[in-house]
Amino acid sequence: MKQIDFFDTTLRDGEQTPGVNFNTQEKVRIAKQLEEWGIDAIEAGFPISSPGDFEAVKAIADSLESTTTVGLARCREKDIDAVRDALVNAKSPSIHVFLATSPIHREYKLKMTKEEVLENIAHHVRYAKQYFESVQFSPEDATRTELDFLAEAVNTAIEAGATIINIPDTTGYTNPKEMAEIFQYLQKECPKFDEVMFSCHCHNDLGMATANALAAIENGATRVEGTINGIGERAGNTALEEVATALRIREDHYQCTSHINLEQTKRLSDLVSHLSGMPVPRNKPIIGDNAFAHESGIHQDGVLKNASTYEIITPQMVGVQTNALPLGKLSGRHAFSKRLEDLGFDLSEEDIKSAFAKFKVLADKKKQVSNEDIRYLVLGHEDEQAADYKLVSLQLMTGTNGIPSTVIQIKENKEDAEVVTGQGMGKGPIEAIFNTVDDIMQANSHLTDYRLEALTGGIDAQAEVHVAVANEDGTQYNGSGIDYDVVTASAMAYVQACGKLKADQDTKEA
Ligand code: KIV
Ligand code: ZN
Repeated sequence: MKQIDFFDTTLRDGEQTPGVNFNTQEKVRIAKQLEEWGIDAIEAGFPISSPGDFEAVKAIADSLESTTTVGLARCREKDIDAVRDALVNAKSPSIHVFLATSPIHREYKLKMTKEEVLENIAHHVRYAKQYFESVQFSPEDATRTELDFLAEAVNTAIEAGATIINIPDTTGYTNPKEMAEIFQYLQKECPKFDEVMFSCHCHNDLGMATANALAAIENGATRVEGTINGIGERAGNTALEEVATALRIREDHYQCTSHINLEQTKRLSDLVSHLSGMPVPRNKPIIGDNAFAHESGIHQDGVLKNASTYEIITPQMVGVQTNALPLGKLSGRHAFSKRLEDLGFDLSEEDIKSAFAKFKVLADKKKQVSNEDIRYLVLGHEDEQAADYKLVSLQLMTGTNGIPSTVIQIKENKEDAEVVTGQGMGKGPIEAIFNTVDDIMQANSHLTDYRLEALTGGIDAQAEVHVAVANEDGTQYNGSGIDYDVVTASAMAYVQACGKLKADQDTKEA
C-alpha cells in the first residue's frame, strides 16, 4: 500500500473563490477541523499578500498540534522572508515557492527567458532552503509547459534543495491521460524522482480535477493538493473529500492509504460551506444532500433489499448522520452529551452546558431532534462564540397591513460589553431588521447576498441564512445564522457579517 499525503489549500487557493473571505478566527476553526480530519499539511495563506494574511498564517501555525503549516511565496526573497516570519512558531513548518514555467506565462506574464526562469528557481529555492528543511516547489502552469523544459525546471528545483515537487494544472486544462504521461515523463527524466515527494494540484475548469489527481497518484504522485468542497479560483480545485473517498472505496484498484478520518468529512464540509457562504450542490459527490438519496422505485426496492445494490459508499463512512434514535424534550443532559460524543464532538463541560440549554429550547419546538439538528446546533453555538457581535434579542411586528417594525438588542462579544438597543422599520420584515442593525452598528456596509435554506427536512426544519455585505472598497464579509426561526437566523447572519466588517475596519484604523 502506498501512503498518500493530503495537502489542503482551502485557506489559500480556496479563499481565492470570488466572494469568499475568511477572518483569522474562521481560518483557525477550519484548520483545527482539518487537523481532526487527518490532513497532513495545510497551506495557511500567502503571508506577503497582506498584514491580515500574515497574522492568519501565524495564528494557524501557532494553533496546529502536529499538522504541517505551509506558507506560499513567489520567487522573491521578501515573500520567503514573510513565510519564515509567519511560521516562526510552527511545530512543522514548510514553504511553498512557485514560478510559472509555461511559454504563455514566460512570454506575457513574467517576460523571462527559459534561462532566467531556471536561474530564478535555483536562487529562490536555495534561499528558502536556508530557513526550511521542507521546501515545496511548483512550476505554475506545468501542464501547458514543454515537457523537456518542465523536467529541467523540476531538476533545477531538486538540485537547489526542494524536497517536494508539486505539478499544478493551473488552468484546469489537462486530462487524466495527459496527466499520467506528464508523471511518466518526469519519472524517466528526473534522476531524483524517488528521493523527493511528487504532488499534484488540479483545477476543475473542465470538470476533471479529481480524475486528474487520481491519474497523478497512479503515476507516481504521493501527495495530493486540493480544497474542501472543491472551492477555489474559477471552477475550483480538486475536492479532497472526493479523492480521499475514492482511494478508500477503490482501495482494490489504487492500493493506497491515507491518514484521513473519513467519518469527519461531513462535519468539515459543513463548516467550510457555512463559513465560506458557498453552498454545496445537492448532487455533489460524497457530501451533497442527494448523495445517498434514492428516488426511482427500482433503486429504492434494491436498497431496501440490500443497500449495496445502489450504494457504493455508506452515509456513515463519511459522517452523514441518519435520523436513527432522535432525541426529544424529555432527553436528559447525559443522553445529550453521549450523543455529542457519538457524533465526534469533543466539547468542554461549559460548552456542553450551553449547547444543552439550546437543545432544550429546540426540543420544545420540535418533537424530534435529529443528529443533523444536533450537528447544526453545535455549529451555531460555535459561531456565536467566535462572533465579534451578538444578537441579544429581537422583536418584530409585521403583518399584511402596516409597516414592519423591530426592536433589536446587540452586544459586542466581550465581557462587560454594553447592550445597545435600536428600533427601525422597513418595507418588509427583513429590511426592517437590517435597517435597525445598520443603525445600531454604523458599519457602513451594503448587502450583496441573502440566501435562506432549510437545513433539515420537514415543516419544523432549522433554517440557515447566509448574508454577504461589502464595505466601501468592495471587500465582502459573510455571515451565517442558524435557528429554528428564519427571522432570527436572518438577524444573526446580518449581525455576524456586519460585525466582521466593523472589526476589520477597527483593526485597520487602530
Ligand atoms: O494553481 C496554481 O498553479 C497554484 C500555484 C500557486 C500552485 O495555485
Ligand atoms: Zn491553484
